[in-house]
Amino acid sequence: MSLDAQTRVLDWPFARTEEGEPPLILDELRKAPPCAVRIPAGAAESRLAWLVTRYADVRQALSDPRLSADERLPGAPVRIQLPPGSNPSSFLRLDDPEHARLRGLIQTEFTMRRVRGLKEPVQRLIDDLLDRFEDLEKPADLHAAFSQTLPTLVIARLLGVPDEDSPFFVEKTRVVISQEDPAAAYAAYVEMSGYLAELARRKTQRPEDDLISRLAVHHASGAITLDELVGIARLVLVAGHETTTNQIALNVLGLLRDDSLFAKVAADDGALIPQYVEESMRYWSISQDAILRQALEDFDLGGVPVAKGDAVVISIPAGNHDESVFACPHAIDLDRDTSGHLQWGYGPHYCQGAPLARMEMELSLRTLLRRFPALRLAAEPSAVFRRGTVFHGVTRLPVTW
Ligand code: HEM
Repeated sequence: MSLDAQTRVLDWPFARTEEGEPPLILDELRKAPPCAVRIPAGAAESRLAWLVTRYADVRQALSDPRLSADERLPGAPVRIQLPPGSNPSSFLRLDDPEHARLRGLIQTEFTMRRVRGLKEPVQRLIDDLLDRFEDLEKPADLHAAFSQTLPTLVIARLLGVPDEDSPFFVEKTRVVISQEDPAAAYAAYVEMSGYLAELARRKTQRPEDDLISRLAVHHASGAITLDELVGIARLVLVAGHETTTNQIALNVLGLLRDDSLFAKVAADDGALIPQYVEESMRYWSISQDAILRQALEDFDLGGVPVAKGDAVVISIPAGNHDESVFACPHAIDLDRDTSGHLQWGYGPHYCQGAPLARMEMELSLRTLLRRFPALRLAAEPSAVFRRGTVFHGVTRLPVTW
């Protein structure tokens, strides 16, 4: 039966539980093929879409070339309303071959060798932030002092933002991402784009060992336009910030809620930290409402007839809690094989920053557990979550030690 003919239509997105877990309704929806949902579509409008929830269907949908990510197509569903006139030269919302051409330009930025080269500077940033955090009066907000700031500083370093511009960069990123005040966010977005374009011009004159300098070489050779260069830098900033910030905070929160888990992860000099980080990503599944696609042709998806032009919402939290793949999915289990989780995406848009984000999250947790073995939460866990955002996360993380 076509999308329009579905008799049961649910309003999407769904709210998470009080404990910040993915919406329980997903457990029910996974028992059936993709269902019809009503999704927001710009100011005061809505439209129908298929919601994909089973692990196998989520993987298929993420990698199926018949589902387009290109938001320039007429009728493409959008979750994050970009400011007017902003060109989606970000390859996150483009299809191959355009997507592959732009993605390929920064592929070498995230190799093991490059990421290893960033380890020492990232550790220094962590140490500096935690030195300052330690001097704060207790209880203190670990999110404001640490998890919210570290990813911006790491990306500034990756892009090649000079140290003296760092306060500007941190502040503008905060305003762009916060979305509390859309006019201020738009103004900051324009300022940030102008800043990145100017930085690219400077790096063209005097290249250094950083991502923008290497992109500037491609720009100088005519391989990419300045708009495309700025779009890539902005994508790295946005894709790498919001996600890592919230995941670092939730990794800590998961331990502070559960003393025995805390003890296990802290034991043996943090030997289980890499396993914990991946399982924590699966459990929280922060990319809750971010992934939308549009069908380029008619085809069967998980047992329903998707028609050309239909919008499709791909639920990573639902796939990551599919009990046929992850037994007792609502528990954090350090013994399970969590390697197939979908929190890094799957297929052509698989997260490019995964090696960097992993390193950042593991170093953060290792250093925190070593320096603050008596870290405790100074609020009810349910009071720290942010609600109704595209990425799940926290607004604050009050702690004492
Ligand atoms: C815990 C942290 C992170 C999580 C959970 C995460 C998650 C994701 C997911 C789910 C996607 C796929 C989106 C889609 O299919 O539409 C993605 C794409 C991407 N991520 Fe990440 N990410 C994280 C950190 C980072 C970092 C640190 C960077 C860079 C510094 C980064 C750069 C990117 C880029 C460039 C893409 C687009 C890839 C493409 O379209 O080909 N991410 N990420």
